[in-house]
Amino acid sequence: MNTLEHLFKKNRAWAESINQQDPEFFTRLSKLQAPEYLWIGCSDSRVPSNELIDLAPGEVFVHRNIANMVVHTDLNCLSVIQYAVDVLKVKHIIVCGHYGCGGIKAALDDQDHGLIDNWLGHIKDVGRLNESALSGLNPGEKIDRLCELNIIEQVSNVCKSSIVKNAWQRGAELSIHGWIYNIENGILNDIIKTPISGLEQT
Ligand code: CO
Repeated sequence: MNTLEHLFKKNRAWAESINQQDPEFFTRLSKLQAPEYLWIGCSDSRVPSNELIDLAPGEVFVHRNIANMVVHTDLNCLSVIQYAVDVLKVKHIIVCGHYGCGGIKAALDDQDHGLIDNWLGHIKDVGRLNESALSGLNPGEKIDRLCELNIIEQVSNVCKSSIVKNAWQRGAELSIHGWIYNIENGILNDIIKTPISGLEQT
């Protein structure tokens, strides 16, 4: 017996409702994937990429990991960026973090979290790089500020990747954005007001 039968039921109902609204939807999508956006976000279940910008399947290419990190040696993330930029030719890469991020909180405490501490080390590096901006803040403010600073840092990592630098070199139309999501009210805000769109700005 499939104990997740309710999820299959929900899937059938979802596919049916889309078919009713747009009978060609799945046929069209099965032939072509042409998203304009790459979303690099946190794995947090409360921050679902497509839903919160109200986009349908096929419209956003997505990579998610704990605390929306872009680590220079992470082949998983880099492969997603390369495919998105070189093959899908997305026009925008959005790094989206969120307030109250568990990964950021964990990076700021001194506890042992097991294996994940190796991943959190990258966030701790961001904290060290921004020590002066974080000093003097109370614990709650510190978490929120590090959530913001981490996005800025990961945007910078995207810009410094060979993939994005090469794309700009050949004149590709590609902008990098840093956004933050508030899980308490569902609202997105832009952290980097002017998107980065060329080598001269990195
Ligand atoms: Co998070």
